[in-house]
Amino acid sequence: MSNQPVDLNSRRQWLAAAAALGVAPWLLTASAAPAGASRAAADGPAPGARSAARRRLGPFEAFPIGLGCQWHPGRRPQAVNDLYASSTDRQAAVALIRRAVDLGVVLFDTAEVYGPFMSEEILGEALQGRRNGIVISTKFGFDIDPQTGARRGGTNSRPDHIRRVVEAQLRRLRTDRIDLLYQHRVDPQVPIEDVAGTIKDLVKQGKVLHWGLSEPGLQTIRRAHAVHPLAAIQNEYSMLWRGPEAHVLPLCEELGIGFVPWSPLGMGFLAGTISVDSRFGEQDFRASVPRFAPDNLPSNMPLVDLVRSWARRKNATPAQISLAWLTARKPWIVPIPGTTNMTHLEENVGAATIAFSAAELAELDTAISEIPIRGARLSPPVLAATGVEAPPKQ
Ligand SMILES: NC(=O)c1ccc[n+]([C@@H]2O[C@H](COP(=O)([O-])OP(=O)(O)OC[C@H]3O[C@@H](n4cnc5c(N)ncnc54)[C@H](OP(=O)(O)O)[C@@H]3O)[C@@H](O)[C@H]2O)c1
Repeated sequence: MSNQPVDLNSRRQWLAAAAALGVAPWLLTASAAPAGASRAAADGPAPGARSAARRRLGPFEAFPIGLGCQWHPGRRPQAVNDLYASSTDRQAAVALIRRAVDLGVVLFDTAEVYGPFMSEEILGEALQGRRNGIVISTKFGFDIDPQTGARRGGTNSRPDHIRRVVEAQLRRLRTDRIDLLYQHRVDPQVPIEDVAGTIKDLVKQGKVLHWGLSEPGLQTIRRAHAVHPLAAIQNEYSMLWRGPEAHVLPLCEELGIGFVPWSPLGMGFLAGTISVDSRFGEQDFRASVPRFAPDNLPSNMPLVDLVRSWARRKNATPAQISLAWLTARKPWIVPIPGTTNMTHLEENVGAATIAFSAAELAELDTAISEIPIRGARLSPPVLAATGVEAPPKQ
């Protein structure tokens, strides 16, 4: 963990200069950024990552593939389950994260609500003493009882709640700063200007370095960015769901905001783990997802066939093709595949070495576009919380 103090005065001047120019501050030259402005990068690269390809994600320099840590307790003691059908244990989850660090992974994604609390605790344990050069991203925004972890339903981005959540997150993550803090879902009760103002204060205090939004409305992105520059948007994006291409990615490009695709493997579909006969248990999130319903799977399987054929052609795996396609879209995209499995982790990291020529990419894009996907990407109540515009500031 770095105890380097952040020079808050020069940091403020740097932010003001960027605001006057109407650009994200990290678009100014690196030499214009004060020391400590991007402390994660200043700490130096993670071990093992020194020779690996790096890319910009907003203010960060990151390995092209991140790691999603979205876990909750299983029935057995120490059991760690994902949202789907995979399971591991706490010790193995810690080892997985440490292996990712050794392989050069920089961006680790989690959230207060994953567990709740458990995923942040595991990430904190795994990264203690291995913090340099790592970007920890986590999220606030659901209404969770801070003592019991009980979900009270709906969102909560009230400023006093955000401040309390961040204190608890710092303790669980065993760190003195959150590199990238997202609002998990837009709160329909709280103007985004109030959320951004709260984050700005936390940044001044050095507790948060940068912030982002997950699944926000377009105007909310602009309003949030105007108060305090956004480092990243985290939305679902993959060959299976290309929604962000219409408006969100162009807006990120315009404003200099990085983009983090969640469920980059289509919840395992694009890695080839779902067949036309797959049926999901009650505990498996995919049971409620229309595009994986028995009626829709037969229409959607041609996408898996396509990915498999490209995997053969490029001497890669379906998961690697799916991730490499995402990183080829824009140089400021860093997907965060989730896994509980060491072999899968190593395979996913290997996607960073796969490149497509412009002609290959055009051919693959066309082929993907020709496969219509049947069924919504999420169930109606989950979908209703996406693309929400925050209420106006009175
Ligand atoms: N902001 C948001 O609202 C939001 C929503 C959802 C997720 N997220 C973030 O995004 C991350 C990733 O999303 P996700 O986990 O939903 O979906 P995903 O990464 O698209 O898929 C994960 C699934 O793929 C399997 N898998 C991973 N690598 C594989 C490989 N190489 N070969 C075969 N199977 C493989 C995993 O099983 P194994 O464990 O067996 O590998 C798991 O079942 C999460 O961890 C979380 O951090 C954010």
